[in-house]
Amino acid sequence: MKMKKEVLELDPYIPGRSIKEIARDYDLYPDEIIKLGSNENPLGTSSKAVDAVANELKLMYRYPESDLKELTNSVASYSGVSSEQVILGGDGADEILDVLGKTLIEPGDEFIITLPTYTYYEFTLKIHGAVPVYAKWDMPENKVNIDSILDSINSRTKIIFLCTPNNPTGGIIEKEDIKKILESTDSLVVVDEAYFEFSGENNSDLINDYDNVFILRTFSKVMGLAGMRIGYGLGNSRLIGYMKRVKPVFSLTRPSQIAAKATLDDKDYISESTRVSIESRDYLYRELSKIPQLDVYESKANYLLVDIRRTGMDSTLICEKLLERGIIVRDCRSFRGLDDYWIRVSVGTLKEDEKFISVLKQIIG
Ligand SMILES: Cc1ncc(COP(=O)(O)O)c(C=O)c1O
Repeated sequence: MKMKKEVLELDPYIPGRSIKEIARDYDLYPDEIIKLGSNENPLGTSSKAVDAVANELKLMYRYPESDLKELTNSVASYSGVSSEQVILGGDGADEILDVLGKTLIEPGDEFIITLPTYTYYEFTLKIHGAVPVYAKWDMPENKVNIDSILDSINSRTKIIFLCTPNNPTGGIIEKEDIKKILESTDSLVVVDEAYFEFSGENNSDLINDYDNVFILRTFSKVMGLAGMRIGYGLGNSRLIGYMKRVKPVFSLTRPSQIAAKATLDDKDYISESTRVSIESRDYLYRELSKIPQLDVYESKANYLLVDIRRTGMDSTLICEKLLERGIIVRDCRSFRGLDDYWIRVSVGTLKEDEKFISVLKQIIG
């Protein structure tokens, strides 16, 4: 059997490693492992969401709601848009990316990403036959290089991805720069706001002024529901309508719909989660900056990118040494555009942060 060309050529996606996997591989107890590798919520899930899901479990034998009206309305009101401008995804924001590919991409179409940025754009769109074009994210300035994007646009450009705050660098893209790009193309500009709650900035207002903007968001970060896999997109109602035609009908399970709605209703949880994550980010930034062999970048998200080359170790060695001591951070080697000397550290509880800093100091010496 011959596999399709795009799949034969695909580099496998490398996700962050799980607690279970590390406990098994390093002979550790899951409870002693500190996970600072996947930009999750250190507070855990909203207790209101847990209770709501517990009540729903007896209905598991029923198919989920497919019209998703209630959750769509909640997301619309949280985002300040109308319900027709919302699409929900059942494998997180990653599903929305796949649905964008199914809806828009014809083989040979191009998409533009900055390097480095979130890896899944390239992974998903290549499966649909699209060709990546690489623009620049400038380091150490930690800023998008707008000219490199504008120079990359041509008649084959179908989608331009702008990640703000950018994963893994944590820098943001100014609204004026996003507008500049929107005004210079008819291509779809996907503004990935997976981490917008931590940045205090958002761009959903652009939907009313530009037909070619699409905002991508997730319940995996500040909403504390990474394991439930819920994402959403905001865009013009015509595009959303076509995307709904191709989206898997039942991809949002009953528990995930209930969990997402209960979390959106739990305003105290959302604001406390934001506060705790920002506090942790500031603490980690301060403490990492004090370690002379490290270069840490300011971030508007819930993680920090650290250049470790002056430690004399590469990222794989540092990550390995941390894993042996039960701490998971992200080895950024798999991000195109970064070399072998970068790690990304997610926010934790203050106790986890303190342990991480003290172990890291021991390792660096
Ligand atoms: C920038 C960015 N966009 C999208 C996603 C996908 O999130 P989800 O868990 O909803 O698939 C992530 C996940 O880490 C991310 O970092």
